[in-house]
Amino acid sequence: MKNIILTGFMGCGKTSVGIRLSYKMRRTLTDTDKKIERLYRMSVPEIFEKLGEEAFRDMETQCLERLLEEPEGQIIAVGGGLPMRERNRGLLKKLGRVVYLRVKPETVCIRLAADTQRPLLQGGDKEEKVRALMEKRASLYEDAADITIDVDEKTIDVIVNEILEKTEGE
Ligand code: S3P
Repeated sequence: MKNIILTGFMGCGKTSVGIRLSYKMRRTLTDTDKKIERLYRMSVPEIFEKLGEEAFRDMETQCLERLLEEPEGQIIAVGGGLPMRERNRGLLKKLGRVVYLRVKPETVCIRLAADTQRPLLQGGDKEEKVRALMEKRASLYEDAADITIDVDEKTIDVIVNEILEKTEGE
């Protein structure tokens, strides 16, 4: 049983889809942000503020390396910026099937309008930030993915069923 890894931009629904998928498949759900927060006893915004983004990115790489040592068959939701490092894309491939939840910037802006927990989207024009970051990242998400699913206007259940169809028997 391979791991199923959920990637995609902030607000694409990795966590909600992960919860539902793990329930339906009866598999453990692991979230890299939560794993890092537990290990370092700091929230992601605190880590960005006190140690900086690069330190957080190193933690993400370390987290993937640790996951490679763990039993397979998990659902793993990873932070939105994690696939941007080349090394991480290699580690993701080794770790399992990578499902990219592709979302439009408009959807992200609606969903994260009131968000205060994503350091990269705080201060200034959120919409501009989302668009610029997504433009920079889009092709790297595609590179890292085995399966791409467009999520805009779909319910969690529809997305989960698509993932189940596309990963059947894995
Ligand atoms: C980030 C996404 C966040 C979190 C951190 C950085 C990013 O995770 O890892 O704020 O660079 O896109 P979510 O994608 O779960 O929001």
